[in-house]
Amino acid sequence: MQTLVKSVFKYGKGIKLINEAGEEYIDGVSGTFNLSLGYDHPHVVGKLQEQIGNLSHMSSTFTEPYVTEVLDQLLEYAPQGIDSGWMRDITGSTANECAVKIAQKYTGADDVVSVFMSHHGQTQFTTGLSGNAFRRKAFPNASAANHLHVPPPYCYRCHYKLTYPGCGFQCVEAIADHIEYGSSGTAACMIIEPILGNGGNIIPPEGYFRQLRKLCDEHGMLLISDEVQTGIGRTGYMFASELFGMQPDIITLAKGLGGIGIPIAAVLMQSRLNVLEKHEHSFTSGSNLVSLAAAKATMDVVSQPGFLDEVKLKGEILGSLLNELPMKYRCIGDVRGIGLMWGLEIVDEEGAPDVRRANAIIDAAFSDQQLILRGSRYGFGNVVKVRPALIATDDELVEIVERLSSVLAKVG
Ligand SMILES: Cc1ncc(COP(=O)(O)O)c(C=O)c1O
Repeated sequence: MQTLVKSVFKYGKGIKLINEAGEEYIDGVSGTFNLSLGYDHPHVVGKLQEQIGNLSHMSSTFTEPYVTEVLDQLLEYAPQGIDSGWMRDITGSTANECAVKIAQKYTGADDVVSVFMSHHGQTQFTTGLSGNAFRRKAFPNASAANHLHVPPPYCYRCHYKLTYPGCGFQCVEAIADHIEYGSSGTAACMIIEPILGNGGNIIPPEGYFRQLRKLCDEHGMLLISDEVQTGIGRTGYMFASELFGMQPDIITLAKGLGGIGIPIAAVLMQSRLNVLEKHEHSFTSGSNLVSLAAAKATMDVVSQPGFLDEVKLKGEILGSLLNELPMKYRCIGDVRGIGLMWGLEIVDEEGAPDVRRANAIIDAAFSDQQLILRGSRYGFGNVVKVRPALIATDDELVEIVERLSSVLAKVG
């Protein structure tokens, strides 16, 4: 178990947290990957102060013009065919529930397919939808009968012990069997993260999403891309769906959309899927004006010319620095990532997941190096994640890897 020594943090500056004693900690994971623009981005802070000064909240009966402004910004960058949206959620969990409601209402089918090791949220429904059982313990309602979990595109530890590309995408082929024998016979949708974030930064191989799209079409299922972690520039692309040529019917967003940690979510879709009535999916704080101001200001920054190109370049720098580590430290079995979304798979001498060592690395990074990292509880728990805010400087990326390297020298 990770046992981070608690420090009372009082301030956030750029990608750093500062405690009462004035000590600075580098946040190598941008909160829980939601502080896309760090702790105090001036443009976002300014816009929030302005909005709070004017009007913090009103009923969603009146917020449509504000919602439309944000949706227009998002839809300008959305993959082809995605031209409509819904913004009555403040968390990724309920945004995913919204997407599934849409799919079920539109198709008239019940079942929902997701992959092992996925994470789609922590409401009862999304806990059941997520592909790992440990959070379901003690909650019988989180095990809905219409959730169908299938093997993930995890080539490093292939479920079928096959090797890409000779595997023939067995992990996609097998889904048809799961639907035929494990479901009511029809499925409304498949939901998947373009990169399995909490599952261990698992990146599907080239061609996976083409196969998956084909399978969804053959079975009349909608394809939902859960971009709660990958969306809004995390991979160097506004949407990772675009990077992978995924062609989803629906995209869900949260986390990074709020820029400096302000809660906000969105569901983007093809307009034919805009089938929900307002009373079917609305929350008291949905389309809150402060949240919308944060999303708009975040989009102002991330859509500035050159911003995403910078993220891509920073991703290359971070990736090449991290890829040097396995040559020095044998406990690193795999380094994988894109943009500013990286994970190091920590293994023992036999190559098996080494959870104890992964947690020891995270603990030592915090206590010895004042570096905040996180692990992958939804996977095997042995992936150390490195995902700084998109505004991290090149020097800060170097500093993160140097501190991590010092930890590995001791713990690895
Ligand atoms: C991919 C993914 N989807 C959904 C969620 C749930 O989002 P929230 O915690 O805002 O409900 C998370 C949270 O970690 C996530 O990583």
